[in-house]
Amino acid sequence: MGGAKLEKYARPGGVGGFGVALMPEGNAVKAMFAEVAPRYDVANHLLSGGVDFYWRRKLTGLVRAHQPQTVVDLATGSGDVAFALRRALPQSTDITGMDFCEPMLDSARAKQEKAGAALTFEVGDCMTLPLEDNSVDAVTIAFGVRNFEDRDRGLREMRRVLRPGGAAFVLEFSQPFGWFRPIYYVYLKGLLPLFARWICGRRDAYDYLAGSIEEFPAAPDFCREFEQAGFSKVNAFRLTLGIVAIHRAVK
Ligand SMILES: C[S@@+](CC[C@H](N)C(=O)[O-])C[C@H]1O[C@@H](n2cnc3c(N)ncnc32)[C@H](O)[C@@H]1O
Repeated sequence: MGGAKLEKYARPGGVGGFGVALMPEGNAVKAMFAEVAPRYDVANHLLSGGVDFYWRRKLTGLVRAHQPQTVVDLATGSGDVAFALRRALPQSTDITGMDFCEPMLDSARAKQEKAGAALTFEVGDCMTLPLEDNSVDAVTIAFGVRNFEDRDRGLREMRRVLRPGGAAFVLEFSQPFGWFRPIYYVYLKGLLPLFARWICGRRDAYDYLAGSIEEFPAAPDFCREFEQAGFSKVNAFRLTLGIVAIHRAVK
């Protein structure tokens, strides 16, 4: 769930790899995830206290209700959503995990080999998806949109590849309920980077995580971004005091 701040990934004119709107430069994101790939799963599950399993289960439940025949899990990383989809959906459903970071895909493929799960992992950039127009029933993406170089372009790409009536399911950090916000940001900005340094030997990725979450739109604003990208029937499901939200949007 982490991401890149990191002076060493900075691009000219941006701050720590970020442009004015705090959308990170794609190559900086790719390089950062290539570095964290070996410890990504352990760090995530520990630092989230395991609640990420629950969030992914909620996501797959919503996808199952949509009864898709083809699903592409974008920014799949080490594949946890893709594997959860495989468990939740009928075997006849075609599931592909896609990411632009090879080391993250290596980790997904290693897990797939071990589990013998029937799904495929492919390289693909969410800014220019290697998929035909109107070709999939559902796209999912967990903790990926926040790292997009251009969020509007990413949402439009999702809509382009969806069949009419198809749906995008986006699990992402959100803005927590008002009273909880100060407590949450103390954890995120103060404690989490310290734990991250202890677990992964580095805290920079988790320093970035806090900044990028703080900048991310609240659920109603993100709903409007989906509408501006051409989606309809946009709903937000806020979970765990609003720490994350699942947005569902229909083409
Ligand atoms: C925080 S991880 C999330 C991984 C996984 N979805 C999960 O829930 O654990 C973010 C992933 O998004 C990928 N990513 C970010 N921007 C991307 C883009 N434009 N195209 C494809 N993958 C991207 C990164 O390589 C990384 O694997």
